[in-house]
Amino acid sequence: MSIKNNKLLIVEDDPGLQSQIRWCFEDYDVLLAEDRESALEQVRQHKPAVVTLDLGLPPETDNTSEGMATLKGILEIEPNTKVIVVTGQDEKENAVKAVGLGAYDFYSKPFQPEIMSLIVGRAFRLLELEHENKRLHNSSSHEHFNGVIACSSQMQSVCKAVEKVAPSDATVLLLGESGTGKEICARGLHVKGRNNKGNFVAINCAAIPDNLLESELFGYEKGAFTGAVKQTKGKIEHADGGTLFLDEMGDLPIALQAKLLRFLQERVIERIGSHTPIPVNVRIVCATHQNLREKIEKGEFREDLFYRISEIPIEIPPLRDREGDVVLLAKYFFNEFNEHHGGKLKGFSKDALSSMESYAWPGNVRELQNRIKRAVIMSDEKYITAADLELDTAPAERMNYNLKDIREKVERQAIIRAISHVNGKIAPAAELLGVSRPTLYDLINKLNIKY
Ligand SMILES: Nc1ncnc2c1ncn2[C@@H]1O[C@H](COP(=O)(O)OP(=O)(O)OP(=O)(O)O)[C@@H](O)[C@H]1O
Ligand SMILES: [Mg+2]
Repeated sequence: MSIKNNKLLIVEDDPGLQSQIRWCFEDYDVLLAEDRESALEQVRQHKPAVVTLDLGLPPETDNTSEGMATLKGILEIEPNTKVIVVTGQDEKENAVKAVGLGAYDFYSKPFQPEIMSLIVGRAFRLLELEHENKRLHNSSSHEHFNGVIACSSQMQSVCKAVEKVAPSDATVLLLGESGTGKEICARGLHVKGRNNKGNFVAINCAAIPDNLLESELFGYEKGAFTGAVKQTKGKIEHADGGTLFLDEMGDLPIALQAKLLRFLQERVIERIGSHTPIPVNVRIVCATHQNLREKIEKGEFREDLFYRISEIPIEIPPLRDREGDVVLLAKYFFNEFNEHHGGKLKGFSKDALSSMESYAWPGNVRELQNRIKRAVIMSDEKYITAADLELDTAPAERMNYNLKDIREKVERQAIIRAISHVNGKIAPAAELLGVSRPTLYDLINKLNIKY
């Protein structure tokens, strides 16, 4: 998430100097304030990237107490703001004090446009570099197509499968619990596919009433039914040259299943109220969280349609079965939301990390994303705690009594967690685990851990 912030706030009580400074920064979005209150209000509302702050602010223009208080206030609201304090001549001491309080730089009057714009320009550049650095740091080797984040071997193979089938025209069926990332993978198939210049059109079969679904999918001619006031294209036509994503396919009414099957076989549609066949070239991706085989047995889903749509089925595992992904995704979402909220938090407390690891995540990645978003907004401390996440951790695993299995499972989990905690570096992971590096390498080989 890169935000280009071009806002410069000038805090200066002398109107003459204010307009002089403003004049020399025409390239920026300049905001103005003349005292502490208006400066803090501007920071709250507009989050300027850089602030020039006159230390001698009213009501006490002969000393710097009001200026220093404003500096503190700004950094409390937006700690990453680059504040350049402007002092009178021979006020080095105050300048140093301000830098000690977190100011980025200082500038001594009299005002010289060239020098001031140099300092301001450098502050903006530094902020840009900081953002870029953060972005590079966050987009680790664990970022796959389309922003899919994963380090677990389970998800690595899903990502590999998506990349492999994307360029083909095979119909893909994405299976997985709610919130596992079916739609993000469907978009990945589109972006990496041959039809990526066309539209990605998604339709949720469960969200549209049965009687409207047909016209949504196939479109209709004017006068085809009451209310059909003008000719309207359906979603399939809109996706021509692109990808059609049929979400919650298990909820497609049986009558429409026959119609869709016909389209999949012949690749032509007829709008409701017309017999003119319209050829459509579209990549089909389907998804469902339901067990289609069970539905077939109950007579609720056509077997022939099932074989058509599942040329290549891809099963997306639930989050609780992905080794190491919870912490990785948690850190990723944390960085994203924290940056958006002014970067005030530092990370997770230890108890927060372990509560996330032992939670079963019934709502999968979407639930994790929502809980972290809420915790970032609500947290009052520097670190997000287990309480902020409000997880009800009661791991309900069925017990396996085989000691060797248990030992291996625990070792495996501990190693994967340690490696993902230290971003894939072996030496610090070995230190965390209390073993030597060669021992850790042996275990990684023995347990066939991919990292
Ligand atoms: N591996 C991942 N990396 C980053 N973000 C992810 C990942 N998986 C899912 N997400 C995000 O989690 C949210 C849920 O994903 P998505 O909508 O793809 O799930 P879904 O399986 O379609 O869910 P549902 O069945 O509820 O429709 C989205 O905001 C998505 O961007
Ligand atoms: Mg979905």
